[in-house]
Amino acid sequence: MVVEEQKYMLNQIKTEFNKQIDQCRSLEELEKIRISFLGRKEKLSLVLKGLKDLPEDERKKAGQDANKIKQDIEMRLGGKMRELESVETAKKLKNEQIDITQPVIGGRELGNLHPLTQTQNEIEDIFASMGFMILDGPELESEYYNFEALNIPSWHPAREMQDTFYVKSQKSVKSKVSKTEDNNRLLMRTHTSTMQVRAMLKYGAPIRAIVSGRCFRNEATDVRHEHTFDQFEGFVVGEDISISNLIAVLEVFAKALFGEDTKIRMRPKYYPFVEPGSNGEITCSICHGKGCRLCKYTGWLEIFGCGLIHPNVLKAGNINLEKYSGFAFGFGLTRVVQLKHRIEDVRLFNSGDLRFLKQF
Ligand code: PHE
Repeated sequence: MVVEEQKYMLNQIKTEFNKQIDQCRSLEELEKIRISFLGRKEKLSLVLKGLKDLPEDERKKAGQDANKIKQDIEMRLGGKMRELESVETAKKLKNEQIDITQPVIGGRELGNLHPLTQTQNEIEDIFASMGFMILDGPELESEYYNFEALNIPSWHPAREMQDTFYVKSQKSVKSKVSKTEDNNRLLMRTHTSTMQVRAMLKYGAPIRAIVSGRCFRNEATDVRHEHTFDQFEGFVVGEDISISNLIAVLEVFAKALFGEDTKIRMRPKYYPFVEPGSNGEITCSICHGKGCRLCKYTGWLEIFGCGLIHPNVLKAGNINLEKYSGFAFGFGLTRVVQLKHRIEDVRLFNSGDLRFLKQF
């Protein structure tokens, strides 16, 4: 092969390569081009192999030219490969892209708050607006805070009214002591009044607080009774607190929750932890006091207990009796919600039945 011929071939290769690479649109095509120009049996290799037949003085220069072209080809192939790769990635990303602002097809199922929680929030807002702090306390409680601290010693008949589920302490399990001997028994709280003494000990007087939550009693269940139900408790300890303050707070609350025309009335009732104690009623939210089936034609619904906090309870809470007095009230939150939504069967609340829950 003579030099001229070689030069001509190299030029041809170069032109042909440039043309093909300019037109190349995919990585697959690019690979074909690479093989057809750099493959061992292809033109460029033939030229390189032919170098050895050239005269000595021309061989070096011709070799340099050929290698230069080979390098150029490799460089351009590399460049084109990167270019095509980024184009293909962009194309792929475009296909995979999703519109996160598009509304979900078929609608999205949203949960909602349990009816008890909804009303609990409403009640807490009303009391917060009167300066009450919102507390919550343990459902698994000591016998002390549930009974003793509330002036209900173990021999007291009032314990009968609030039977609950007892949990043996580790100590008594180990030493096999009998139920009546166990002083460390834990129980599922029977009312939210447990928080009265706990809060007095923690925050001292003056104090205004509201506590809502689950309570438990050992009861046979039916449409009106449930072993697990919700209550909310309110209490105030301060200077010159009297029954008038209690009535005023309850009136404001009842009107805010049940409507402006709601009235309350209180009749004496015994609770060991208040003195005097009352059983409280509000005008029936359905017939507004005229009389209907719900209120058994009395026009009144019994939904809370209240009174002035017993001195023994204040003592247990470390309150200075010379200076302070207080009142407390406890509502059946479950009952309040039943009245509000006219729910006849109390067992629906904890049933987890979606047909019931979805109505709120
Ligand atoms: N804890 C009482 C109950 O569950 C209600 C109550 C609370 C009564 C506060 C008086 C004062 O029946």
